[in-house]
Amino acid sequence: MEPPTQFTSRMIANGQIAEGFYELSLAWEPGVAPIPAPGQFLTVRIGSGAVPLLRRPFAFAGFDAASSVVTIIYQKRGAGTELLSAKRAGEPIDVIGPLGTPFAVRDTRIDTDNNVVYNKYAACINPQKHIIAAGGIGVGPMLFLASSLKARGIPARFVFGCRNQSFIPSVKTFADANPQICTDDGGAGFRGTVADYVNANMSLDINTTVYACGPLPMLRSVNEIARTAGAKCLVSLEAVMACGVGACMGCAVPVAGGGYSRVCKEGPVFDGKDILWERM
Ligand SMILES: Cc1cc2nc3c(=O)[nH]c(=O)nc-3n(C[C@H](O)[C@H](O)[C@H](O)COP(=O)(O)OP(=O)(O)OC[C@H]3O[C@@H](n4cnc5c(N)ncnc54)[C@H](O)[C@@H]3O)c2cc1C
Ligand code: FES
Repeated sequence: MEPPTQFTSRMIANGQIAEGFYELSLAWEPGVAPIPAPGQFLTVRIGSGAVPLLRRPFAFAGFDAASSVVTIIYQKRGAGTELLSAKRAGEPIDVIGPLGTPFAVRDTRIDTDNNVVYNKYAACINPQKHIIAAGGIGVGPMLFLASSLKARGIPARFVFGCRNQSFIPSVKTFADANPQICTDDGGAGFRGTVADYVNANMSLDINTTVYACGPLPMLRSVNEIARTAGAKCLVSLEAVMACGVGACMGCAVPVAGGGYSRVCKEGPVFDGKDILWERM
């Protein structure tokens, strides 16, 4: 994988898309920084002074190759994202990216002669099933994954969960993903969580990959449901980051078999079976 680049980008747009959620797009200079892949993230230096001191990480929510523009979708949480939401088109912004390990898509099928093939045959048995599960703040990277799978001709179901209707993002990429919406209060779509929906309505088996990003309890439940059914579950984790480039171990998470892995380097995407969930 090509190394990440630090450069000064230019903000293209920054607008509210749901209660407390914003979509920001910025120029991704062709030839300057490597092309981002779904699951990877960037870090931004938000203020020029001491506050906030640390760069803030955000997952890529999309990349438009024609215009060389990347997007992120972020929630206003504290001082850094408050400042970020006040930035306007045309302002310079210091970014480092792309960082981290992206989603690896299991893109094989078994054809009618029982051969493993790579997404080529229309007639096949046991086609791979792809389920994308996004909760709240996890929506950005999962929209990027959904559009990238679609562009490769790989069908996927997209399930999105949030507290209530006001958190449903009004962006085209969200509508394009044809989402199954789940709300805690039942005000839109299915009443319940993403994990409840997947458990009750989707048949998972060894040919299924579930991709999940969202709050930790959601990831834990989705991973458990998928693994119980024999499916693969790839989770994108969050951790508070200091360096963002693998140098400080500040973002380390416990892994099965002992030791730690860095969310910013080996992650943020992990196979759910490799995470020591009871110590998260
Ligand atoms: C790999 C990665 C990808 C991310 N992608 C996105 C994204 O696509 N969209 C998005 O909105 N956010 C994303 N985040 C989280 C984002 O980095 C934080 O929300 C942001 O740094 C908060 O900055 P702040 O200054 O506004 O809040 P702070 O003042 O730093 O914190 C406000 C509150 O948020 C909590 N918090 C801060 N950072 C994190 C974190 N990383 N994980 C969990 N809790 C945190 C703090 O504990 C505190 O309670 C990602 C984080 C990582 C590690
Ligand atoms: S944030 Fe420093 S190693 Fe990950």
